[in-house]
Amino acid sequence: MLTSLSVDEMYQNMKVALKDIVPDVELRYKAELAVEINRLKKEKNAVILGHNYMEPALYYSIPDFKGDSLELSRKAAQTDKSIIVFCGVKFMAETAKIINPDKIVLLPSEKAGCSLAASITAEDVRLLKARFPGVPVVTYINTYADVKAESDICCTSGNAAAVVESLKSDTIIFIPDEYLAKNVAQETGKHIIFPRLYSGSTNTDTSLDYQMIGWPGRCEVHEKFTVDDIRSIRQQFPDVVILAHPECSPEVTSASDFSGSTAAMIRYVEKTNAPRYLLLTECAMGDNIAAANPEKEMLRLCSVRCPHMNQITLEDTLKSLQNNQYEIEVPEEIRVRAVKSIQRMLAIG
Ligand code: 13P
Ligand code: SF4
Repeated sequence: MLTSLSVDEMYQNMKVALKDIVPDVELRYKAELAVEINRLKKEKNAVILGHNYMEPALYYSIPDFKGDSLELSRKAAQTDKSIIVFCGVKFMAETAKIINPDKIVLLPSEKAGCSLAASITAEDVRLLKARFPGVPVVTYINTYADVKAESDICCTSGNAAAVVESLKSDTIIFIPDEYLAKNVAQETGKHIIFPRLYSGSTNTDTSLDYQMIGWPGRCEVHEKFTVDDIRSIRQQFPDVVILAHPECSPEVTSASDFSGSTAAMIRYVEKTNAPRYLLLTECAMGDNIAAANPEKEMLRLCSVRCPHMNQITLEDTLKSLQNNQYEIEVPEEIRVRAVKSIQRMLAIG
């Protein structure tokens, strides 16, 4: 158990995985922080959930559970610890609080937001529902509690198509990620429109042939990847296998060899034996996969870090446990409505 390691044991452990990725002097210092965090975690009966995008030294030292948004939501729903420290971004910590109103949920940095969550408000959803009455709303988990409260069901990148298909509805509102929505539309054979993009259009367009209604939110990390990036890498390395997160554009996911959630990409690399891989996603995850699969070559396109995930450090996680900061609060009136959309998603499996 990493939780009971001495500083030297922690340093040796981290060194095995990260010797080619994190400078030695940094590893020693971070091992000390990690041991103190793990000691406090035990003392305070806390659990640490770590998203796959956490920086390598944190990822390989303190989380009790690591995973994608879906897996971590499930862990949050199952924990019996009294404190949940979420090493991820605010919408993830908020999701944990919505499921666990009686527990203390901490996010180590107040600055850990998300461009997708910031792209839509609860009022936007109410307007969409007024314009398309009776159409069920599927909301990506990368949203805040008040938006989830207006929704019928949540989804993550790991289950989006399954959630859409589970509704068996002729038409679905799918918010707020434009690219994820287009990728799901492609996968499920549905025609999608983006009504906010058509200025002046009114409810009369309900006669058109469409099955999904989207919203133009984007992930500021994944929108950066282009088909030209893929062409140029394939020219230089014809045997490369390219994996893209479904928050990338449909042109990029179509030009890639595999598209899936962060956890699905990790499993894909583990289960296949290509000479080299390129991941079109947040760069820290590339380092984390490279550390776990030293025999496989991971190409680096450039360093695309999520500025929000990047806020979560070992230093701030220690302060978070020491001072119980930053505590996530969700007004009860919003929480009781939001929890239904999360529970409905978790019930799908
Ligand atoms: P996953 O659910 O695939 O982990 O994605 C979360 C996220 O924020 C991707 O940018
Ligand atoms: Fe949000 Fe994109 Fe960062 Fe994920 S990578 S937290 S979707 S901004």
